[in-house]
This record gives sequence, C-alpha cells and structure tokens, in this order.
Amino acid sequence: MLFILQSERTMSDQKNTSEIIIAPLSASPLKVNRFGYGTMRLTGEGIYGEPPNRKEALEILRKTREKGINFIDTADYYGEDVTNRLIKEALYPYQTDLIICTKVGATRKPDKSWISFNRPENLRTSIDNNLRTLKIEQVSLVHFRVMPHSDVPLKESMDAMFQLQKEGKILHLGMSNVSVDDLNIAISMGNIATVENMYGHAQRTTLKTPHGENRGGEEVLKICIENAIPLIPYFSLINALTKKDDRISQVAKKYHKTEAQINLAWLLKRSPFILPIPGTSSLKHFEENCESVQIELSEEDMNYLD
Ligand SMILES: NC(=O)c1ccc[n+]([C@@H]2O[C@H](COP(=O)([O-])OP(=O)(O)OC[C@H]3O[C@@H](n4cnc5c(N)ncnc54)[C@H](OP(=O)(O)O)[C@@H]3O)[C@@H](O)[C@H]2O)c1
Repeated sequence: MLFILQSERTMSDQKNTSEIIIAPLSASPLKVNRFGYGTMRLTGEGIYGEPPNRKEALEILRKTREKGINFIDTADYYGEDVTNRLIKEALYPYQTDLIICTKVGATRKPDKSWISFNRPENLRTSIDNNLRTLKIEQVSLVHFRVMPHSDVPLKESMDAMFQLQKEGKILHLGMSNVSVDDLNIAISMGNIATVENMYGHAQRTTLKTPHGENRGGEEVLKICIENAIPLIPYFSLINALTKKDDRISQVAKKYHKTEAQINLAWLLKRSPFILPIPGTSSLKHFEENCESVQIELSEEDMNYLD
C-alpha cells in the first residue's frame, strides 16, 4: 500500500516531464532536470587515461550548465579518476543545484580490465577517493555497481554502503546493474533512491557479453515505478548505433531529427521515471543529444516503435 501511495504521489509530481524528483519522500529530495550527462566517454582508449581532446572534454562539461543539465554521472574508475578530475577542473566551485552522481563497487587493473572492488573496506576507499578528487564533503548520490559473480555477498556490500550513508559521506544511495532479486534485497534493507541499468530502445533486457553481464532496465522498470525510483539508463545510444532499426530511421525522417535523437526521445516518452544520461566525447553530438528533449513522440510513434 505504501508503495502505491508513493508512486501515485510521485507520478503527479512528475507530470511535467522536464523534471524528476530523486528520493521524493526523504528529508532531502533532489530535483533534477530530466536529461543528464554521462562522463564515461571523456577518457582515453578503453575508458582509460586522459581523453584525446581534453579541451573539448572540459568544454562539454562546462556546456552542461548552459544547457540546463544538473545531473552528471561519473565514477572514480573512469580513467582512472580522469572524469572526476575533469569535472572538478570544469565546474568547481559547484553550483548548488548540481548533482554529481558517482558509483562504487568496481576498479581497474593496469591491463584496463574491470574487477570487483566491493568489500566494505574497498567501498570506503572508493567513496573517500571520490570525495577527495571532486573536493566535496558528501556524495549526493552514489550507485553501488553490482559486479555479477562476485564472491562478496550483496548484503555485505550494501550494509557497508548504508553505514557510509549513516556517517554522512553519502546522501542518497542507488544501485547499478541490478537484477530483480538484487533490487528486492536492497529495498528490504533500506531506502534505494535510484537504479542505473543498461536500457534503450535497441537493447532493453539483460545482455551477457564476453566481459560480463549488463542487467537490463526493462526487468526492473516496474519495480522502479512502484517504488518511485528513477531509472537512469546506460548504453542507450551505443547499442542503437550497432543495431540499425528501420522504425527509428522512419520516425527520424518524420521529425527531421537524427536517429540518436529519436532513441533519446523514446526513452523520455517511455516513462516519466527515466532519466537519460547519454555519453559523448563530441561537443557536436552533445548539442545534438540535448535537443532531443524538444521532441515529443506521439502514442502512435511509441506503438510503432514498440
Ligand atoms: N552503471 C554502469 O554500469 C554504467 C556502465 C556504462 C556507462 N555508464 C554511464 O552511462 C553513460 C552513458 O553510457 P555510454 O556513454 O557508455 O554509452 P551511450 O550513451 O549509449 O553512447 C555513447 C556512445 O554513443 C556515441 N554517441 C553519442 N551521441 C551520439 C550522437 N548524437 N550521434 C552518434 N553517436 C553518438 C558516442 O560517441 P562520440 O563520443 O563519438 O559521440 C559513444 O560512442 C556513461 O557515460 C556513464 O556515465 C554506467
């Protein structure tokens, strides 16, 4: 019953699709414009090291504010620590409405591979690392990134995350790359503010790759809506670039927009609980992506694209 009331209240709060409220029932809700930016592409080859065009990377970050973006996704393992340093260089001192959302649970090896870093002491190290590099005293929102097949029980990691929240190092806690079971376990342990899973028109459900497993948004969207938890999708464009869809091309022609823009417009229309964070290292693509908030797909378009 509580869940139904929560979701009804948030739904009506979110009729204006240009905004989304994170943790609406908490003492410190965060009001976010419903179009963010993901920084992972502002790195070198293999998401490691400095970006090839540092000047353009800083320009994109500064432009986020001009475009009304107040939600930026990062991690200390992008680079390593490259995107956090760029964010600080471009945007510090931060405007009060800016929400920098980071994630913990993984790290990198010198060969650039991604490994779990999810023991309680690892999570503390990562949070402290984010706080230090970003030059902040509290992380507004952090996702615990589930690394499937890790030997650390989820409950052990989540207990550590809630402890860090109690200590005030974290304001709101979200989860990333979650299965339905993971999410239900976490919700039974405490307040989960957001979920960040792979999701987009081209790939909506879990995908196993040679490098791991990306859990899909479609599987968890219903639980997110029932619990008033915004879903922050990743890989919304990259999966679409490699899977051409004639229906997307047709709708793009109809609106005189690009296919990337229609993929993003689809996400915005799919649910008022979705907060897109497309990534790009190109200023031109960044500006193109921002324009997708102007496109309102019709119900007929959505049925056609379903
Ligand atoms: N929680 C997690 O596990 C997780 C995992 C992955 C990512 N993330 C977050 O989610 C964000 C989004 O994911 P992502 O950046 O990996 O993938 P994405 O948003 O799906 O797509 C990025 C790719 O699309 C290209 N692109 C972007 N805009 C374009 C446009 N208008 N036209 C053509 N190509 C375009 C980019 O190339 P150009 O650089 O050339 O534009 C880049 O190769 C990341 O930045 C990161 O913050 C989270």
